[in-house]
Amino acid sequence: MEKTQQFIQSNKQKFVDELFALLRIPSVSADANFQQDVAACAQHLATHFQAIGLDAVEVIHTAGHPIVYAEKIIDTSLPTILVYGHYDVQPADPLELWHSPAFEPVIKQTAIHPEGAIFARGACDDKGQFFMHVKAVEAMLQAQELPCNVKLMIEGEEEVGSPNLAIFVREHKAKLKADIILVSDTGMLANDTPSITTGLRGLSYVEIEVTGPNRDLHSGLYGGCVANPINILTQMIASLHDDNMRITVPGFYDKVVELSEADRAEMAKAPFSEKAYCEALDINSTHGENGYSTMERGSIRPTLDVNGIWGGYTGEGAKTVIASKAYAKISMRLVPDQDPDEITSLFQTHFEKIAPASVRVKVTPHHGGQPVVTPTDSPAYAAASRAYETTFGKKPIPVRSGGSIPIIAMFEQELGLKTILMGFGLDSDAIHSPNEHYGLFNFYKGIETIPYFFKNFSQI
Ligand code: BES
Ligand code: MN
Ligand code: MN
Repeated sequence: MEKTQQFIQSNKQKFVDELFALLRIPSVSADANFQQDVAACAQHLATHFQAIGLDAVEVIHTAGHPIVYAEKIIDTSLPTILVYGHYDVQPADPLELWHSPAFEPVIKQTAIHPEGAIFARGACDDKGQFFMHVKAVEAMLQAQELPCNVKLMIEGEEEVGSPNLAIFVREHKAKLKADIILVSDTGMLANDTPSITTGLRGLSYVEIEVTGPNRDLHSGLYGGCVANPINILTQMIASLHDDNMRITVPGFYDKVVELSEADRAEMAKAPFSEKAYCEALDINSTHGENGYSTMERGSIRPTLDVNGIWGGYTGEGAKTVIASKAYAKISMRLVPDQDPDEITSLFQTHFEKIAPASVRVKVTPHHGGQPVVTPTDSPAYAAASRAYETTFGKKPIPVRSGGSIPIIAMFEQELGLKTILMGFGLDSDAIHSPNEHYGLFNFYKGIETIPYFFKNFSQI
């Protein structure tokens, strides 16, 4: 991989310039106002794939946003790596909290990224990360060192639950035939502590509507006599955790796989400072399920969180009113072997049951996803581990993550393929938040590391 690495070293500025062009396209999948931009982003990528010499480049139209596909098959008797990523991004709002516009990338230094970081929506999640694969493949092609076949599938709907990719995968199993899935859409512990993600939590997401009286009421005339949907909703939500911060939905923990003490002890070896964690978030203490560490609460334990709550009067001044309706959005992060559909249904049954007779409750399920755990004793894992050792000079630590990428479990179910999660982002990179950024160190290190995985995996 010598020539590949040389190509990377002499093209660093070009790579960043090209990433900037990608980041300038506001490919927000959740908002219909950006549909043209999402389509333009897909086209931009396809053109780029063609320009770097990939074959079978295609913008695949779906009922939603397009999927971009490309491949380089050098020899069908060699292994094939299927790279997955997403070019769609989260909405940028609240816009006023960005220090520079979300879709005008700039490089700024931070305490954690002294060599500079790229600030833009999607810089880390996931444009900056999947683009590392594009550049690594380009470098291997230019150096004539591509050691195996590669397929790239970059979708435009990850942030909205990959509804159409799931259908596409089911219907195109032959096209997606490969030996491993390779994804950079997660994180690592720190720039001097490389890690490989070995698990993702699943997701169950519900929206709740609580209806009381048939219209908003004067809170003096009716207050005290009818159920206030906001009071009721907040009481119901508060009852979803007990004093030990355990979730009270009956059956919620039934299928949770408990880690052995040995596994927990192994996990506790990963460097983690409670103090630094609190300081970074300006909090006095952490909070969560009794009997588990912060690392465990954020990865191997399931959660239930209100993601949004609204109703009644929230404008200026006071308005004395009992609202007719109250709403909330709730996410539950799941761990093996919890099933999202089953958890959603347990939640729905429980929530309807605890509702007082004075209100009506409607629970609407949204997209979900299965949890994943990837093996650490596979040849593919060893290939990844050795790649990090080459570029970081250290063995990476396996770490289960708290985030979700619903399509990963689908890949295993439908294609029978395992995934290697080579994430290079940091938790402090503010993904989904204002001022999202991605370190230049991380971007380049990723581009340098990926070719070694290709090489090691080809030699299995
Ligand atoms: N890339 C993230 C998931 C992630 C980030 C996993 C960091 C591990 C570490 C992905 O784009 C994402 O945001 N997923 C959503 C789920 C999706 C269905 C909206 C999530 O985790 O909330
Ligand atoms: Mn992502
Ligand atoms: Mn995301």
